[in-house]
Amino acid sequence: MDPLKVVRENILRMAGYVPGEQPRGGKVIKLNTNENPYPPSPRVLEAIRSSLDESLRLYPQPTADDLREKAAEVYGLPPECIIAGNGSDELLTMLVRVFVGEGEKVVYPTPTYTLYETLAEIQGGGTVEVPFPSDFSLPAGLAESEGKVLFLANPNSPSGTLVPTDQVRRLAESFRGIVVVDEAYADFAGETSIPLVRDLENVVVLRTFSKSFSLAGIRLGLAFGNPGVIEQMMKVKDSYNVNRLTQVAGIAALEDLEWMKENVRKVVRTRERMTEKLKEMGFTVLPSRANFVFARREGEYLKNLYEGLKERGILVRFFDTPSLRDALRITVGTDEEVDLFLEELASLLK
Ligand SMILES: Cc1ncc(COP(=O)(O)O)c(C=O)c1O
Repeated sequence: MDPLKVVRENILRMAGYVPGEQPRGGKVIKLNTNENPYPPSPRVLEAIRSSLDESLRLYPQPTADDLREKAAEVYGLPPECIIAGNGSDELLTMLVRVFVGEGEKVVYPTPTYTLYETLAEIQGGGTVEVPFPSDFSLPAGLAESEGKVLFLANPNSPSGTLVPTDQVRRLAESFRGIVVVDEAYADFAGETSIPLVRDLENVVVLRTFSKSFSLAGIRLGLAFGNPGVIEQMMKVKDSYNVNRLTQVAGIAALEDLEWMKENVRKVVRTRERMTEKLKEMGFTVLPSRANFVFARREGEYLKNLYEGLKERGILVRFFDTPSLRDALRITVGTDEEVDLFLEELASLLK
């Protein structure tokens, strides 16, 4: 029997999400997947170390209740409005499982995080893609689009741009479905839609520990939403979706917010300097509110530039699609990494 004959049609057809390159060893300056260049809080590392004992034979709390209580204190919503996931990617998966059935649609402005499309495909659902205008403000007609769920990465990737909260509110008030505000980079923007959850039943806000908290390797995200929505998400998650060490790490990270905020301040300072330098080199750079910058040379094909940097040990993100191939997305590294990147870039451009 040919197993491919029994694979679901939509899975056979889809390409699958392609994550950014994760080099195995070797010395590279990694500016391609928006990780934080600074280490996680020492309190997080200590909390993990002191949990490394025989208790690992036991399952973790199925709904990560200690972590949810800590998050409730920090973010000002009750624990019933919060669910933890194995990264915010898992929370996105839960949301499409809950809301998107076969043939139903997911709406998002483009270009954006490409996992939204992949998740819709896995469900056998469709997509409504509404192109951003060139300044990456909210596209006209987005709120009127027909779909069960609207995803808004805010700040957006790859553009780094932010839609102000009052506009997100108006979008959620008009859209006839669930609005998911994916705030993976919100700590770098200093603006959040979490308070909207109190007023609007159709808003879900996602946060991750992968970026501002320097914990991409631990896999932890939080969703904030109406208790009714959170209850449905609980039904579709894996039973023990967040492991013991991750739960402990998340609590410790939330107990040391100052560590995260100091790293954010450093990243933001470097981001501003990097933006100015790239502009001096002739790039068009959108105003970034995230921990990366989107730098464009209108009409040029930047694959060679990306490959040249890679040969010199610097990985940045290049998207080889017609609307993005004249741009690079560069994660903000340490000052030293960014200086090396700028130096190599200048020499390649000569
Ligand atoms: C917009 C956006 N959402 C979600 C994620 C995934 O985050 P996590 O590591 O929490 O799964 C990313 C990661 O790059 C992202 O850019």
